[in-house]
Order: sequence, then C-alpha cells, then structure tokens
Amino acid sequence: MGTNKILVIGSTNVDMVIKMKKLPLPGETVGNGKFEQSYGGKGANQALAAAKQNVNTEFITCLGNDSHAKKLEEYFRNNLLITNRILYSDKSPTGIALIYVSEDGENCIALAPGANEELTMENLSDWEQLFKNVELLVLQAEIPLLTIENLILKAKEKNIKVLFNPAPVCRINKHLLTCIDYLVVNKGELEEISGEKVDSLNLKTITGELLKKGCKHVIVTLGKEGVFYHSDYTELSVKAFPVEAVDTTGAGDTFCGVLAACIAEKETITTDILKYCCAASAISVTRMGAQPSIPSKDETKQFFHSKYNQ
Ligand code: RIB
Repeated sequence: MGTNKILVIGSTNVDMVIKMKKLPLPGETVGNGKFEQSYGGKGANQALAAAKQNVNTEFITCLGNDSHAKKLEEYFRNNLLITNRILYSDKSPTGIALIYVSEDGENCIALAPGANEELTMENLSDWEQLFKNVELLVLQAEIPLLTIENLILKAKEKNIKVLFNPAPVCRINKHLLTCIDYLVVNKGELEEISGEKVDSLNLKTITGELLKKGCKHVIVTLGKEGVFYHSDYTELSVKAFPVEAVDTTGAGDTFCGVLAACIAEKETITTDILKYCCAASAISVTRMGAQPSIPSKDETKQFFHSKYNQ
C-alpha cells in the first residue's frame, strides 16, 4: 500500500439490479428479468476502484438508519478503504438505486438518495483533520451541490488537488472551474457544463474553453469511442478496448477511481495512463454490478499488457 492519500467524499447506494432483455418504456412491463443486489453509489464505486489499485484511499459517506449500514461499513473495510469518518443518519435510509440493465449492457437508473442528502457541511467539520495528508480530493454529484462547492473551495484553500466528476449531470458555478484540477466528464456532462452541443469536431474547442476558464485538465470519457484529454500543454485521444458488454453500470466510476489512483502516484497524465484506466473500465463492463465488477490492480495490469499494442 502506497503512502499517497486520496480522499473520496461521496455517495453510497444499495443497487437493486434487474437484468432484462430490453429497458422498459414508460407504462410498459418487461418480464423475465434476473434480480441481483450489490453495493454501489458513485462515491463508493470510485473510492473502491482507487483502493483496489493499492493507493491509500479514505472514503467519507453518510449511511442510513437501517441494516445496510453496518454491513456496508464492514464491506468497505474488507475492501481496503479507510472508513474512520463515516457518518450515520438517524432519520433516513441508506441510498437506494433501482437499475435496469438491458441485454446489450445499457442501463437506466432511478435513485432515492436517502442518507446521501445528509452529507452536508454542518456534518463535516474539522478541516485540518479532514484534509490531513490528503493529496487528491475526489468528488461526484450524488451529494448536495452546496457541499461539493464548499469542499472544492476548502480543498483549494489547503492546496489539495481536486478531481471532480459531475455525475449525475449537474451544473456547477462557473467560478469553481478555477479550483478544479481534473474535470472528468462524459459527453452529456460536458454539454451541461459548457452549455454547448458536443461532437467530435468541436470537442477540442469546448474543452479548450473550460481550460481558459481555469480548469487544469479536462478528461472526456466517450464510452466505446475511448477518451479525450486536454490540458494547456497537450491533448491526447485514446481508443477504448473492444469488449462484449454485459453491464456498463459503474464503468465511468471505475475509470475515475483508477485515474485518481494513477494521479496520486504519478501526477502526469499520459497516453499509457489513459489506456490503463480504459482497461479497468473495459473489464468492469464485462461483469454484472457496479462494485462487484471493479478489477484489482493485478487484473488491470494483466489486461492492459495483454491487449495494449496488440
Ligand atoms: O455510476 C453507477 C452508480 O450510479 C450505481 O452504482 C448507482 O448506485 C448510481 O449511483
């Protein structure tokens, strides 16, 4: 286990998943599904993906007043996460995500955030202790937006790098872009943040605008198309690894968590690092579930070396 410390502050959900032939339309019932329950939440998924790369990762989340909470905490610890500062709600249940996954691996998610909504600034305190030894703060958008905005500002005050993944899609205050070191977005999230329709021809211009507004690195995940990276110094495009998708849930989270681990260890983003992160998310889509599909470091390395430059 390395000494770099990533701090992820974000959501935890219990994912109730039905794998079915096709996603239901409004008013339609699709039968013959197969049910599975596993742990998820964008915060927890990203924290776990980073920890599985053997980088010291602390996870702060808010769990509910239900039987899931104790099991989740134990599960996080067993999966190498540092969980000394987990919060518990006394009035809300743990977050629940209802997820439909189609035969070709696409999903659609309905979320009841529950305790995640109580991850507020009032419930997080003692900034000196909270950010002690932290090199990279990782945030997503399944906790209150006000908390995210305040955390980004606090981290900057303390000179801590910030990786922000505005998922599910949200619009952040533009002035915060100057405080974001790594902005990881998919196409929809980029469109929301930039206010522009994105295509392959204007990707560079739109990400360039975000750099001009102060963001230091923009990483755009494009699913099967791969990843585009833009900073003041360079731009890189990498292709995704072609795999048979079973369930794409959590693939973006796996990418973010592994990227966070790579940044904490090496800092500079290269083609190889982006490819390595794509390898981790490629593995994750070949398996069911968000957290059960996150690969270990050994597994990711093996896949990366066997498939890269083939
Ligand atoms: O990004 C995937 C995650 O989104 C799932 O684990 C689910 O909990 C929702 O938060």
